[in-house]
Amino acid sequence: MIEKLRNIFTTALVNAFGEEFANIDPLVVPASNPKFGDYQCNIALPLAKSLQQKPRAIAENIVNHAQTQDFCLPLEIAGPGFINITIKPEYIAEKIKLNQQDERLGVEKVSEKQKVIVDFSSPNIAKEMHVGHLRSTIIGDSIARVLEFRGHDVLRLNHVGDWGTQFGMLIAYLRLEKPEVLTTANVVDIGDLVTLYKQAKIKFDNDAEFQETARQEVVKLQNKDAESIKAWQLLCEQSRKEFEIIYRLLDIKLIERGESFYNPFLPDVIKDLETANILTEDQGAKCVFLDGFVNKEGNPLPLIVQKSDGGYNYATTDLAAIKYRIKEDEAERIIYVTDAGQANHFAQVFQVAKKANFVPDNVELVHVPFGLVLAEDGKKIKTRSGETIKLKDLLKEAVNRAKQDLENRLTTEGRNEEEDFINEVSQIVGLSAVKYADLSQNRTTDYRFSYDKMLALQGNTAPYLLYAYVRVQGISRKGNIDLDKLESNQDILLTEETELVLAKHLLQLDYIIKEVEKDLLPNRLCLYLFELSQKFNQFYDQCPILQAEEEVKLSRLILADLTAKTIKLGLSLLGISVLERM
Ligand code: ARG
Repeated sequence: MIEKLRNIFTTALVNAFGEEFANIDPLVVPASNPKFGDYQCNIALPLAKSLQQKPRAIAENIVNHAQTQDFCLPLEIAGPGFINITIKPEYIAEKIKLNQQDERLGVEKVSEKQKVIVDFSSPNIAKEMHVGHLRSTIIGDSIARVLEFRGHDVLRLNHVGDWGTQFGMLIAYLRLEKPEVLTTANVVDIGDLVTLYKQAKIKFDNDAEFQETARQEVVKLQNKDAESIKAWQLLCEQSRKEFEIIYRLLDIKLIERGESFYNPFLPDVIKDLETANILTEDQGAKCVFLDGFVNKEGNPLPLIVQKSDGGYNYATTDLAAIKYRIKEDEAERIIYVTDAGQANHFAQVFQVAKKANFVPDNVELVHVPFGLVLAEDGKKIKTRSGETIKLKDLLKEAVNRAKQDLENRLTTEGRNEEEDFINEVSQIVGLSAVKYADLSQNRTTDYRFSYDKMLALQGNTAPYLLYAYVRVQGISRKGNIDLDKLESNQDILLTEETELVLAKHLLQLDYIIKEVEKDLLPNRLCLYLFELSQKFNQFYDQCPILQAEEEVKLSRLILADLTAKTIKLGLSLLGISVLERM
């Protein structure tokens, strides 16, 4: 709809003012307030200066050339020169019918698909996968789903932290404390890596001899010593198993391509920077001085790409990854989902990659930052005993609480349900609640983790949306109606205010999804779905469905069905599946 309007207004601009206006964005947006209609065209005001005319006169000229008669009510000029656009109810009714029959619900695929990489989740081997990684996992997955649905070719990459000097320490510690792990041919369980890491670190900090052994171990590992590599693989394998538990629970698909993958390409990065004449040596370290980043004294800040001992940094690996992803993967848009704390890292790496000519003009590098996850009191999230919370436990707790809520509700409603039903519903509700609570926040802000809020049946929560979907399925069960077989030649009647409001909102889906594709803010989709559920509930309160006369009943069933399908599709793009009953 919005595209159609944009095209019409572009044509109107050209016909009114000449060919040179063909490439001007006509600024058609959804109306800021329903009393101004459905959409507005805001181009008249910014044109006033260059055209040297009053904005209202410009607006009138545009209106005279805009061919909207067949699907809009007469255009209205408001205030200093806004053009208000209201779609004819007949046209809306027609679109609703088409979308309800369309498996994409009227959402177009892109005409030119891009190769997109979403770099997300990316936990570190032998370290805790923490709530920050959970956020990256949930947000990254949703962004990938939206882009995939639009038809892009998406590569989901897990840039696991699987290399670095800490492995020297870990392997040295393994050799000392669990030598059998390295000598047996069988895969041995090396237990809780996080504990192992802590113990190794204590020894490292307090034992000079051990420090030296650890350092030698790093060298061995770099030289691909067979035993060291085996130990490293064991560590990775063990962590991977832990990560997999979380990914399976959350239904996350992604390809592991950790930092170590780029090791062979690191020396070339240094050469490239040299060739580009941007490499400087500073106290034995190789670095690139950055524009726009200064230290306390006001001097330019360097990005160190090779330490004086020859080792490479996190940033060097990211430079190699950019090069590889553009050259080998042919990526045109690379999206990095990490906490906002890494904003500088990415700004610096992007700057150096551009200076080194790694990034052609058609390639976009985007950092998608997000805020912290805090406990309800605004402090760091911890267990009761003050330790960092394990993700597995956090998710389990959400499911347990969902189960408790459900059991209470069943008792109040006097319902008797099978154990399987209770387990399935609480699993989906609990995990959806965690995902949705995260996604529904503007990701750039910190967010407070509250089981009570995320599991509430009221408000902008997963249970509220799931319940709206369930309501529609309940209507179909009660009326014994197969929603998939609804008469397609039925006219949609939009006589009641709540019907029209719901129908108009339903038609915004296409626009919202394209917005998320552009600005990578899944909370916009959440808000859309929340408002859809509210509008559906208002409609359902005001407009009887099953008791209405046949024509009205069918029309309302189609509205209800399209609402349910929209919720289902929208939630699927957030990584959430619906329930038929709850
Ligand atoms: N492993 C990093 C961390 O835990 C995140 C990696 C993000 N991706 C990247 N290409 N740097 O903070």
